[in-house]
Amino acid sequence: MTESPHTAPQPAASSDAILRDLVARLSLDDKLRLVTGEDVWSLPELPQIGLRKLRMSDGPVGVRGTSFDAADTSVVVPNPSAQAAAWDPAVAREVGTLLGAQARAKDVHILLAPTVNMHRTPLGGRHFECFSEDPLLTARTATAYVEGVQAQGVAATVKHFVANDAENERMTYDVRADERTLREVYLAPFEAAVRDAGAWLVMSAYNGVNGATMTANSPLQNEILKQEWGFDGVVVSDWMAVRSSEPAFLGGTDVAMPGPVELWGEPIRAAIAEGRVDEAVLDDKVLRILRLAARVGALGDAAAPAADPGILAGARERIRTLTTRTMVLLENRGGTLPFDTSALRRVALIGPNAVRMSAQGGGSATCFPEQVVDIAEGLRSALGPDVELTVRDGAFTHRKLPGISRANSTDPATDAPGFTLEFRDVHGSVLATEHRLGAQAVVWPGLYPEGTRIVVLRTRIIPAVDGEHVLEVLGLGAMTATVDGEAHILDLGTGTGDFGEFLMRPPLTHIPVAARAGAPVDVELVHTADSDLLVVSMGLGWAPVRPDEEAEMAAAVADAAAADVAVVVVGTTEDIESEGFDRTGLALPGRSDELVARVAAANRNTVVVVNAGSPVLMPWRDDVAAVLWAWLPGQEGGAAVADILTGAAEPGGRLPTSFPADETDVPVLASNPVDGVHAYTEGSTIGYRLWALRGAKPGYPFGYGLGYTDWEYRDLTVEGNAADGLTVRVDVANTGARTGREIVQAYLEPLDGELFGSAEPLRLVGFAAVDAEPGATRTVSVDVPSRDLARWDAAAGSWRTVPGTYRLTVGRNAEDAGLTTTITL
Ligand code: BGC
Repeated sequence: MTESPHTAPQPAASSDAILRDLVARLSLDDKLRLVTGEDVWSLPELPQIGLRKLRMSDGPVGVRGTSFDAADTSVVVPNPSAQAAAWDPAVAREVGTLLGAQARAKDVHILLAPTVNMHRTPLGGRHFECFSEDPLLTARTATAYVEGVQAQGVAATVKHFVANDAENERMTYDVRADERTLREVYLAPFEAAVRDAGAWLVMSAYNGVNGATMTANSPLQNEILKQEWGFDGVVVSDWMAVRSSEPAFLGGTDVAMPGPVELWGEPIRAAIAEGRVDEAVLDDKVLRILRLAARVGALGDAAAPAADPGILAGARERIRTLTTRTMVLLENRGGTLPFDTSALRRVALIGPNAVRMSAQGGGSATCFPEQVVDIAEGLRSALGPDVELTVRDGAFTHRKLPGISRANSTDPATDAPGFTLEFRDVHGSVLATEHRLGAQAVVWPGLYPEGTRIVVLRTRIIPAVDGEHVLEVLGLGAMTATVDGEAHILDLGTGTGDFGEFLMRPPLTHIPVAARAGAPVDVELVHTADSDLLVVSMGLGWAPVRPDEEAEMAAAVADAAAADVAVVVVGTTEDIESEGFDRTGLALPGRSDELVARVAAANRNTVVVVNAGSPVLMPWRDDVAAVLWAWLPGQEGGAAVADILTGAAEPGGRLPTSFPADETDVPVLASNPVDGVHAYTEGSTIGYRLWALRGAKPGYPFGYGLGYTDWEYRDLTVEGNAADGLTVRVDVANTGARTGREIVQAYLEPLDGELFGSAEPLRLVGFAAVDAEPGATRTVSVDVPSRDLARWDAAAGSWRTVPGTYRLTVGRNAEDAGLTTTITL
């Protein structure tokens, strides 16, 4: 059945009655087509009802867009744990606003973010991509993020529903958790994002929960998410998470991505014809998609709210400011920071992450920033020309070489910076050619011409120096690399088969090349597929052969000894913190710890900047002058680090997760499922609550972070009751010499330490950020809604505030004695 596009509805009148009428006009074919992707990133248009193509893109730190190339740039903000470290919904809302504006500029309707899974084990590969170990902090950050995105007329997608808290075996593991655990911890941020922020999509995870894979988990998706919480948006599957026909179709998943998904085509048509699936189930999915389309301005005359170009125009400054709000000062002995810049003549900047800052983590979260300000650039412009700045690696920790960039390569076909990507058929005839800017090409069905069997990546490298170089080839399977006419037949193996690993940590090999500065080296990489379904990830890296690491470290120590201060930047890389696999340990890579220790021994003014998204061990933390935790800080990271080191900005962040001093202390460490099962036997007590319960001490507690001024808390009062919620008030005085920012945290625990017959440690019930000038006192008010006082009563199957006497503590972190009072609820 086809209708003229002129009969499409007005946006403002997109009531369910009108949308239902549109659903009724669609044929079974059209409806079936709409519930699976048209390709990797979009749903098909249906012009007969005025429905335009709905485009999706990954977040959560930028908007990658629908290609996977450095030419498709995006703003890139700090990683999500950093966003939560601001302990300030205004920061998450600002992130959402920037990404919503970026999505509008790239014609993206659906942002596949935020990620609200939990920091259960610090080894989780996507720990960096999740907000916190605390459900309340996660929920508050997520709701503000979603509101920010959706206010721009772009849909947010809360993911991954639910309990996708580790990566190893993520397609198959089953999480076993009781209902109280799920409700209080793992479901809570989704519930807040849906009920409080009105999120328009939820993404169904790869894993299973209590025996049913999530895309087919009717109790969680149909009963809790849709019926109980009243979610009226779209449940989109994670990419390739739909692995069944009827179970997933009936299990609450509305859209199967990427598409087309054959399991949802003919098998569902047959199931409807044979009466096993009611067509009304399909109609409900279509209705939800049309509702979404109306919301983002992709239906009929519907238009999204006017995009504000000013947001992106001011993005760099906005990102720099919000980035300073995320960084956490862990140590500052003798007021080392901020630097007295007038006394500085020479600064030694040292470390593998000083030379190559990790702006982002790895996996589908990776975006392509227009530019990145690294720490060397940030410090150079903050310190000015009168301060000498030396920069060197000191140690080598990167698995991959730097990718070939537009700065040292030209596309031989056009002479423009970059690469040629060529698609050929089985006979070698060229079907299409693209110009690329990035050294890694990811090729998906639907994104290349039909009949493609051979993919070729070609470039001309212009070496910067004379001598032995290394050409790195990354990818899967058989390839041929030809360097200046000499062919190298390579077989890089098949990898683990995981999408994230395939994308971000493909196998690699090295080819030695003797080169002269300025003399071009022609490189061609050819991948021939053995079937029509082509998913290719191929890439090239290039660098001069590294000097001996011992000599490099000795030179770094000499630099440090000759400088007024040494700034050592150590951290992880996108090969260590990534989707697709978990970390294998918490130690920094390679000889990082030795580098810090040797530099600190050479210069007592050693400041360590840690460039990582999830906790790492810092065995030298008592031996250095200061430690700044900079996260994976995004495109303006180096400028923000320099702002904090020089005192232009306050380090505004507080830890959103407990940082262990030792691996053996961590209450839940293992990230490998046992026989395919993750048993959440610790129940709803995770993170700092579990540390407290076990009487163990982390290196730095949840909520911890220093500023550049001093504070005093006075006059704590609490009003309210279980039914209406509480208002906690405290006077906070800035007793130091600088304007600063303080995060006031409120924790609650039953006086007898028990709830529902088992031990119940403290938990965060509210927080507020406050700014004050020296000498000023501010009255800070923290609201605790009644629901945040309640716990899940498994016997009653409902939320309930357990009557009793509680200790309420207001302080600076989970271990701070702060001010306390006793209340009766
Ligand atoms: C990830 C999702 C992502 C999707 C699309 C999946 O592998 O788990 O977070 O949105 O890919 O890239």
